[in-house]
Amino acid sequence: MMRIVCYLIISLTISHWSFSQSRQLSQLIPQPVSVQEQPGQLVLSREVWIQAPAGDTLLYRMAENFANRLTRIGIKSKITGSAPQGNVPGFIFKITPFGVDRKEAYKLTISNKGVLLTANQHNGIFYGIQTLLQLLPPDVESTQERSFAKIILPYVEIFDYPRFEWRGLMLDVSRHFFTKAEVKRFIDDMVKYKFNILHWHLTDDQGWRIEIKSYPKLTEVGAWRVDKTGSFGSFSVPEAGEPKTYGGYYTQEDIKEIVAYAKARYVNIVPEVDVPGHSLAAIAAYPWLTCTPGEYAVNSGERFMIWPGGGQHFYGLLDNTLCPANEEVYTFLDKVFTEVAQLFPFEYIHIGGDETARNFWEKSERIQQLMKEKQLKDLDEVQSYFVKRVSKIVQSKGKKIIGWDEIMQGGLPEGATVMSWQGMKGGIKASQLGHDVIMTPTDFVYLDYMQSEPLLEPKVYASLRLKKTYNFEPQPDSAVATRIKGGQGNLWTEQVYNLRQVQYMIWPRAMAIAEILWSPRQARNFNAFVKRIETHFERLDAAQTKYAPSMYDADFKAVKTSDNKLQVTLIPEIDGLNLHYSFDNSLPDNFYPAYTKPLIVPKDASQMRVISYRNGKPVGRMLTMPVEELKKRAGIK
Ligand code: ACM
Repeated sequence: MMRIVCYLIISLTISHWSFSQSRQLSQLIPQPVSVQEQPGQLVLSREVWIQAPAGDTLLYRMAENFANRLTRIGIKSKITGSAPQGNVPGFIFKITPFGVDRKEAYKLTISNKGVLLTANQHNGIFYGIQTLLQLLPPDVESTQERSFAKIILPYVEIFDYPRFEWRGLMLDVSRHFFTKAEVKRFIDDMVKYKFNILHWHLTDDQGWRIEIKSYPKLTEVGAWRVDKTGSFGSFSVPEAGEPKTYGGYYTQEDIKEIVAYAKARYVNIVPEVDVPGHSLAAIAAYPWLTCTPGEYAVNSGERFMIWPGGGQHFYGLLDNTLCPANEEVYTFLDKVFTEVAQLFPFEYIHIGGDETARNFWEKSERIQQLMKEKQLKDLDEVQSYFVKRVSKIVQSKGKKIIGWDEIMQGGLPEGATVMSWQGMKGGIKASQLGHDVIMTPTDFVYLDYMQSEPLLEPKVYASLRLKKTYNFEPQPDSAVATRIKGGQGNLWTEQVYNLRQVQYMIWPRAMAIAEILWSPRQARNFNAFVKRIETHFERLDAAQTKYAPSMYDADFKAVKTSDNKLQVTLIPEIDGLNLHYSFDNSLPDNFYPAYTKPLIVPKDASQMRVISYRNGKPVGRMLTMPVEELKKRAGIK
C-alpha cells in the first residue's frame, strides 16, 4: 500500500475550470504550434516513475536528465523500462511515428493517465522535455533543491514543431576567449529555447582558437595577445616586448568533447574559419600568408581598421588578409580545413568572407599578376576567385560551405549558403539565385548591440531593442521562401569580457529570436511576449543566468523647441510602466512626479534622473542623464 502511495500521482478534476489557458500554458517560449487545454490538473506526488525503454540509451539519458531536474523541485523519480502495474500515472517518453513528417515534432499529452511525450525522433522528445520543464516551477532550473507543497500540471495536448530548421546563435570566441566549460554552459542555456545550431566563430584578428596540428603556431602564437581592459578597439598600441598573456584555444580533444556535448543536446556546431579578411591572428603566426611582407602581432584591441563612413570603403592600417595570389595559402587552407572537417561532423563549414580590407591588394604586384593571369577585372573578382577556390577546398572534404553575404561579390560559388548580415537584401537576392540562406541581419539580430539607453549599457556603436528583435521576419515576401533555412542571433564579443556579460547580451533578446524561428508566424504579440518573458526571468534567476532588464528602461529623445528650449521625451519600450523623474539631482522614487508628456528641462538643471516603477515597485535602473548630453542630442551648442 505504501509503495502505491509513493508512486501515486493523483489526478484531480477541478469544477471551476475555464477555457482560458492556465498560467503555465501561457508562459511557454517559444509558443507551441497547438495547445489544447483540457479541464483538469495532474497533481504530482513526491515520487514518480518515468518510462523510457531499456536499450534506448539516448532516451534513457534524457529521462535521467529530466529526473535530475525534478529533484530540484523535491520530486524523486524511478526510471523504468515498462510502466508499473495498475493505473498509477507517470511519465512516458516514447519514440513513435505519429503520422506527421516533421523531423523535430513532438506531442505532449497530460491527462489523468499521466504525462505522455511522443515524437518521431529523439530530438522531438528533447524539445518536448524543454516544454515540460517550462510547465514546472522555475526552481526546476535551480542548482539547489527545494520542496513544494503541491505541484500541478494542466491537462493539455500540445502538438509542436519548428517553423525553421536552422535556429542558431553565434558565439565569437576570438575577441574574447570562453573556456570549454563556458561554451558548454552557453549550449545548456540555448537549448532551453530550442535552438539547434551553434555557430562558433573560432578565428579572427584577435585570436585563433582551434588547434591545427599541421600548423602549431596558429595557437602557440595566434591564440595570445596583450591583456587589456576597457573599451576594446580603442586601446593603446602594445609596447615592444609586452607579454602576451591573454588568450586560449581549444585542443582537438576539447573540440571533440564540445561537439559530443552539443550533439547530446541536439545542437549542431558550425565552425567558422574567417578568411580572407579578419586573419591577423593566423598572419601573426605565419606572416607569409599575406601579400605584404612584414612582422605582425595578434590584435590586442588597438585600432587597426578604419571606417571612414560617407560611402567610402573601409581600409586596414596593416594587412590582415590572406593573399589570394599565393598558392601556399591554398595549401595551408587545404590542411586547415582537412582538420576542421574531421573534427566537426555537421555538414556545414563557415568560411567567413566578410569585411575584407583590400587596400593592400590594390598595391600588391602579386595581385596585379594574378589579375592578369586569371583575367580578373577588379578586386571583387579577386575576392571571388579566392572564395571560390576555398569553397572547392572545403567541398572536397565533403562539406557544404556557408559564408557572410560578401561572398556574393564578384559571383557566388556553386552550392554556397549565404548568411545575410548586411540587412536582408543579400539573402533575398541569394534565394532568388537558387542559394540557401540564413538570415542574420544586423538591424534585428546583432546581439552585441546595446539594448537600451547608451548611458546604461557597455558602449557599442549601435542599439537593438528587444521589441525590434521581436519584429524580425526571416522570410520576407520577396525572398524565395523555400530557400530561407532559418536565422540566428550573432554575439560578437569585442566588448564582452566574461560569461556573465555573454548572458546579459543574449537574454532576453534570444528568446525573441527563438520564438521567431520556432513558432508560427501569426502567433506573435509583443505585449503578451513581454509577460511571458517576465516569468522566464524567474527561471533565469533560478539558473543563476544573467539577463538584461533593459526593456524596463526608457529611451530619451531630446529636441530644441521653436522658442529655443530643451525638451525631453521619454519613450518606454513596454506598456504599464510609470516613469518617475527628477531634475534636482536627488534620486527619484514613486513619490516623485510621473512622466506623462514631453518636458521642458529647467534652465539651470545639470542632470535628469529617471526610474521605472510598476505596481509601486522599481523595475528599471536609475538613469542619470546629463543635461549636456541632452543638449548634444538636440543639436544645442
Ligand atoms: C560581420 O558582422 N562582420 C559578419
